[in-house]
Amino acid sequence: MEDWTTRYAANMRNFAGYSIGKQLAMINDPDIISLAGGLPSPDTFPRTEFLRFSRERLPRDCEKIMQYSAIPGEPDLIAAVIAYLRREEVRVGPENVLITSSGQQGLDLVGRLFLDPGDRVVVERPTFAGALSAFRMQRPVFLGIDLEADGLDMDSLEEVLVRCRAEGSSPKFVYVVPDFQNPSGITLGMEKRQALLDLCSRFDLPIVEDSPYRTLRYRGSDLPSLFRLDQEKGGQRVIGVHTFSKIFCPGMRVGFLAGPAEVIGRLTNIKEGNTLNTPKYNQDMCSSFLTEMDLDTYFKGCSLYYKQKLDLFLEAMEKYFPKGSGVTWTRPDGGLFVWVTCPAEVNTGKLFQKALDFKVAFVPGEACYGQSPEYNHMRLNFSYPDGDRLLEAVKRLSSCLF
Ligand SMILES: Cc1ncc(COP(=O)(O)O)c(C=O)c1O
Repeated sequence: MEDWTTRYAANMRNFAGYSIGKQLAMINDPDIISLAGGLPSPDTFPRTEFLRFSRERLPRDCEKIMQYSAIPGEPDLIAAVIAYLRREEVRVGPENVLITSSGQQGLDLVGRLFLDPGDRVVVERPTFAGALSAFRMQRPVFLGIDLEADGLDMDSLEEVLVRCRAEGSSPKFVYVVPDFQNPSGITLGMEKRQALLDLCSRFDLPIVEDSPYRTLRYRGSDLPSLFRLDQEKGGQRVIGVHTFSKIFCPGMRVGFLAGPAEVIGRLTNIKEGNTLNTPKYNQDMCSSFLTEMDLDTYFKGCSLYYKQKLDLFLEAMEKYFPKGSGVTWTRPDGGLFVWVTCPAEVNTGKLFQKALDFKVAFVPGEACYGQSPEYNHMRLNFSYPDGDRLLEAVKRLSSCLF
């Protein structure tokens, strides 16, 4: 075969994949301190429970675990998920839940269900690069809405929706990461949550709410999810993309989608042609985490652990990034990321190569824009390196930048 490209599906011909993943794959020098990945710290993994589960369940359920299992998910896990959502006063039944192989599969299924080439999708600017990558497979047009300190610029969103209506074309959905957003660390404020629901009700738009970091709050009080607020208004407008990657551990690859039964049914059909079922072993492990662990204590412990790292990281940035340099950064209330804005003339894509010489890595912000990328930002992750390496990473970054 001489030319493969002409044989690829139109949707895939120019599909470039997940740029962050490619950059991370380039980093195989152990001396480089990576602030690039979104890796939770292994110090927070429920290791004891994992080992106990493996010891007890594997011999007992070996044959069932090795068998195919139900496409929508294990009934025990679905029941545990329903109880987990009830902690947040969200009420759903089994028909509203589809177990997925983590958040990324949830995003892929949503993209496949809703998007045709050329369809419009509203996303935050910046937004989660992995969601762009999942949705891009269907070749949509992204309509980016700038983020303010408390989330989406609602005036600009309204303007965009009015313009779309005038053009006779409604976006298929609004995609938001409302809590300690990846990549910016920004949280959608309470007033804006209500305003977003009202606006989406006015324009009759679904909302895809992706919130992997909700339990990792270090300051301030919890805000209700969009799903819950919508439910309180009697709506069925929100599809929740959930993952247990940041709550328990990403290696398990378990998450779920929550939404109206009709939509969940369709997503289940797509999953059937996709991965068929999520590994039973991983689902059972997740059920046992959800039902056997003291979740409040566990989440509190994780938050305390990450808060210390975030505080240390922010203090180091205050100390080593010179005042008056024009470099600014977010101070998130939770999650795993800090978003840095450099003066407009700095290109962080180019800086990335230089940073590798300084033995430190970050994610250049350009990957986080659906259209018209900005080149002067970087996403920094503070959850993975230990305290000493975090400090050292900030010093190296400072030497590279200034
Ligand atoms: C906002 C957001 N959504 C979804 C995911 C997907 O994670 P996973 O596939 O591990 O559930 C991530 C991972 O970093 C994320 O930050």
